[in-house]
Parts: sequence; C-alpha cells; structure tokens
Amino acid sequence: MIRHLYFHIPFCPKLCPYCCFYVETGTQNKTTRFLDALLREVEAAQATHDLQPETIYFGGGTPSALTCEQLEYLLGGLRARLDLSALREWTFEVNPATVRADKARVLRDAGVSRISLGVQSWDDGLLKTLGRIHDSEQAEKTYGILREAGFDNINIDLMFAVPGQSVAQWQATLDRTIALRPEHVSSYCLTYEEDTEYFRQLKLGTFRQDDDRDVALFETTIDTLTAAGFGHYEISNYARPGFESTHNFAYWQGADYLGFGPSAFSTIGLRRWQIVPDTAGYTERTLANENTVHFTEELTEATRAGEIAAFAMRTRDGIATDALGRWGKEMREFHELGFVEHRDGRTVLTRRGKLMADSVAEAFV
Ligand SMILES: C[S@@+](CC[C@H](N)C(=O)[O-])C[C@H]1O[C@@H](n2cnc3c(N)ncnc32)[C@H](O)[C@@H]1O
Ligand code: SF4
Repeated sequence: MIRHLYFHIPFCPKLCPYCCFYVETGTQNKTTRFLDALLREVEAAQATHDLQPETIYFGGGTPSALTCEQLEYLLGGLRARLDLSALREWTFEVNPATVRADKARVLRDAGVSRISLGVQSWDDGLLKTLGRIHDSEQAEKTYGILREAGFDNINIDLMFAVPGQSVAQWQATLDRTIALRPEHVSSYCLTYEEDTEYFRQLKLGTFRQDDDRDVALFETTIDTLTAAGFGHYEISNYARPGFESTHNFAYWQGADYLGFGPSAFSTIGLRRWQIVPDTAGYTERTLANENTVHFTEELTEATRAGEIAAFAMRTRDGIATDALGRWGKEMREFHELGFVEHRDGRTVLTRRGKLMADSVAEAFV
C-alpha cells in the first residue's frame, strides 16, 4: 500500500540564482499534454500498486505557476482517479507572485489543505539578492488571500545565511512571520549548491560564508520561534502543536512514497528510482507508454536503515537508544562532545548538537 504521493511541477517564472531543483522557465512544455502525462502516470501506478494516499505533496518548481484552468483540469483529474477517502494532508507549494483570489479558491475547492508559501525573507533588499520576483508587500497580500480562501494550515518558507544578511534583519523577518500567525515555519540555511549562480559567486569570492554569523542566525531562529509557541520538531522545521507536516514525517520515518513528474524520486522498499529530469521527454514518453525511469538504485538494508536513522536524528524524537547498535561507538563520541543526550530511552540532539546536525547525521550514512 502506497500512502504518500509527490508531484513535481517543474515550471518557474524565473530561475532563482541559488536553486538546484529541476525547473524550467519557458512555457512551451506547460501544456495540457504535460497534465495528461501526469494523470497517465498515476493510472500506470494504479495498475501496479495499491494507492491509498494519506498525504499528497505538490512541489517543484512552482506548482502555483499553473493557470486556474490547468489546476482545475489536473486536480479534478486526480480526484476522479484516486481514492482520497484516507487523505489527511494535501500540500501545495506557492510562490507569492503567482496566486490571486481565483487561484486560491480553485486550490481550496479541489481539496488542497495545506499551503507552503515561499516568502524566504520580509526584507525587500534581500529578496532582490535572492533574485525573487515578489516583494514583501506582495507576499503579505498573498498570505491574506490564502487565509481568506479558507486555508487554515499555512507554512512559511524562510531562508537564512543569505549574503549580506544581518542578525537584525533576520530577527525582523522572524518577528514579521510570527505576527502573521502561520501554523508552520520552515527555516532553511542557504546551501551553495553546485551548478548554481550562487555557487559561482562563492568560488569567485563575491560571496563569502560566515560561520559565526550563521550560527547566530540559527540560534536566533530557535529562540524566537520557540518563544512564540512553535515546536522545533526537525532541524529546519517549526510547528504549532498538531501542525507538524505529516508528509515530511512519513519521509523521515522511511515510509514508501511514489513521485510523479520529471525528476521526481520514488522509494519502495529497497528500490529507489528517478523519473527523467526532462519535461518534454517525460511528457512524450509517458503518453507513448514508454519507460520514463532515469535511473534505479537497489539500496542495501544497511544503507536504508542508515538513511532513516540520519533523518530521525534530525527530529525532536531522535532515535531509540537501544536501536543504535552499530552506531554505538560514534554516538558515544558525540555524547562525550555534548552533541547528543539520552532522554527517556531516546538519543536526541542537544542544542549544541543541533548546530552540528549535518555532521551527526553523516555518521549514519
Ligand atoms: C522546492 S523549493 C520550491 C518552493 C517555491 N518554488 C519557491 O521557491 O517559492 C522549497 C524551498 O526550499 C528552499 N530552498 C531552495 N533552494 C535552497 C537552497 N539552495 N538553500 C536553502 N534552501 C533552499 C526555499 O526556502 C524554498 O521555498
Ligand atoms: S521559484 Fe523555487 S523552485 Fe523555482 S527557481 Fe526559485 S527556488 Fe527554485
């Protein structure tokens, strides 16, 4: 039984200079044929798997870049094909520049229950540095439109460690976020991904990393959001009680999931595969009933267990201490360094360990 579905919608109005996701900025492939390919892929999956989605996640790219008509067609097509009686959470990533009241209504009417709004910053100067197409006023307006449409579960995506960002600017962004009273905040530390404009600027020395500042920004995030009533339930994620992301939790717990659309990954048992990162090729091949798999990987039991442990270690609940088995030596070292502590039979990151979360997680993989 597959309970978690991901849909990758690769279209973006403009490429952000730090982004490494598979996206395309032209509109030549943003067609009904592409939507038909997604629906066909779902039908093909139904022929081989028992699909009973509890969570659906539309990510990208920018799913909200589809027009109202395209969304009605695609989401209506999914509703007609899938048994949604067990659906608990349906998330849609929204770029603040791409949604007006009519589109918010279409999403709500189709059954989307959770919005992830890519605000990134409330500072207009930093939004320019990030190459975003929206400004803070537009983001706040879109947030209001989504609330008016009836969305009562909204995540705001933020990014810190942006070039030129001060602790005071970040504090102001956190304060303005809290004032809007979202249910969830994802706060990502900027990663300089290879093959991005930001990476090139880093190599050229135009951008410089400042570890001390980034630690201060991260600690400010934890202090400010937890004081405002958000639980810090995963390194980059904060939620009001009961609003933790069910879809992401399923990933972190190692549940099977199916991904649809170009570049999407799926993992079932020990098999992982990726669909071709090529929208035109994906569309044509899917509609011709040809194979669209880009690569397949057979994981070992040990690799998969390591991945799941690494995810779990980044969460509030950590790992059952008696399940640490083959990582006992590393965990003893982390314990001595003060990065992990044992609490109620579980091993969890300490505050100091949260600053080193990536290094701790690496020990498992
Ligand atoms: C899959 S992206 C897409 C969301 C949407 N297209 C947008 O940008 O508004 C989800 C989130 O990942 C974060 N993100 C993207 N690239 C990143 C990077 N290089 N480093 C850190 N966070 C990043 C951003 O906060 C973004 O909102
Ligand atoms: S809008 Fe989102 S997915 Fe698209 S390029 Fe920017 S960060 Fe990447």
